[in-house]
Amino acid sequence: MKILLIGAGGQVGQELEQLLAHDRVIELLACDRTSLDLTQPQAIADQVAAFRPQVIVNAAAYTAVDKAEAEPDLAQAINALAPGALAQAATQVGASLVHISTDYVFDGIQSVPYQEDSPCNPLGVYGDTKRAGEVAVMAACDRHIILRTAWVYGAKGKGNFAKTILRLAQERDRLRVVYDQIGTPTWAYDIARAIVALLPQLGPETYGTYHFTNSGVASWYDFAVAIVEEAQVLGLPLTLEEVEPITTADYPTPARRPAYSVLSGEKIAGMLGTTPPHWRQSLRQMLSELYGSMPS
Ligand SMILES: NC(=O)c1ccc[n+]([C@@H]2O[C@H](COP(=O)([O-])OP(=O)(O)OC[C@H]3O[C@@H](n4cnc5c(N)ncnc54)[C@H](OP(=O)(O)O)[C@@H]3O)[C@@H](O)[C@H]2O)c1
Repeated sequence: MKILLIGAGGQVGQELEQLLAHDRVIELLACDRTSLDLTQPQAIADQVAAFRPQVIVNAAAYTAVDKAEAEPDLAQAINALAPGALAQAATQVGASLVHISTDYVFDGIQSVPYQEDSPCNPLGVYGDTKRAGEVAVMAACDRHIILRTAWVYGAKGKGNFAKTILRLAQERDRLRVVYDQIGTPTWAYDIARAIVALLPQLGPETYGTYHFTNSGVASWYDFAVAIVEEAQVLGLPLTLEEVEPITTADYPTPARRPAYSVLSGEKIAGMLGTTPPHWRQSLRQMLSELYGSMPS
């Protein structure tokens, strides 16, 4: 199977590249920003036409939620126009397209998990452009999987909430973290594994939109406390003494975020025949990858 991986330098992209590179039946072309700039639609078309993949996996995105409010055109180019160009190019060579999207397409006013067909109503530029990307993919490529995920963290890639908390817990004695935004922390490795597991099942029966996160729910406060507790178990030299729960109103940000963005994973669990690990179990594994083996 010939696979073109886009966004190979990101959190999910690096995990995907590592998993796919070890599969002998896969011929992989992995592109990061240096080899394919998604703001250049012609470069996207040329790359797909030259490699003629059977599957394109798009793990690239403009993911800086707050910064996107000041750079809407760039976010639109990467999150909406580029996926549209990828979808057109996929259709031209008969490829399937696996495109990753986000819980931030929802407004968060629900109090039960969002289903794949729940109404979208993004609150900010990031969510808005990601939703536009979904619509562009659906319009240009019938053979698509849109995989919405949430609260992504991992050992690889630039930065994420978990790494930030780990750093601050070794610098400060007190942290303030919001407790009134609820979602599911999701390990990039688990997303990559789910994508690899669905590749053999790609076909007319399975094309469509899916939600994938780790199991369970948490607030950012719960997540921060768990990161600190697990880091203590690993023996990290923490200076932190207290994590204070605060409200979203106490911590204003340029972008509004959904208060509740738990995604129902029932549909993909039915397809893959497995339920993802609980987020805390995956957090523990990610930390052991970052800092070596867990103590026995
Ligand atoms: N992070 C989250 O919390 C979160 C939550 C929900 C959904 N998602 C979705 O999950 C997917 C993967 O996210 P992630 O956390 O792995 O993202 P990430 O670590 O930010 O990686 C995104 C990748 O896209 C690349 N990229 C950005 N602009 C590009 C351009 N013009 N041309 C080529 N590549 C470009 C980045 O390259 P550089 O490294 O060079 O910038 C980066 O490697 C995305 O679709 C995202 O929207 C993420």
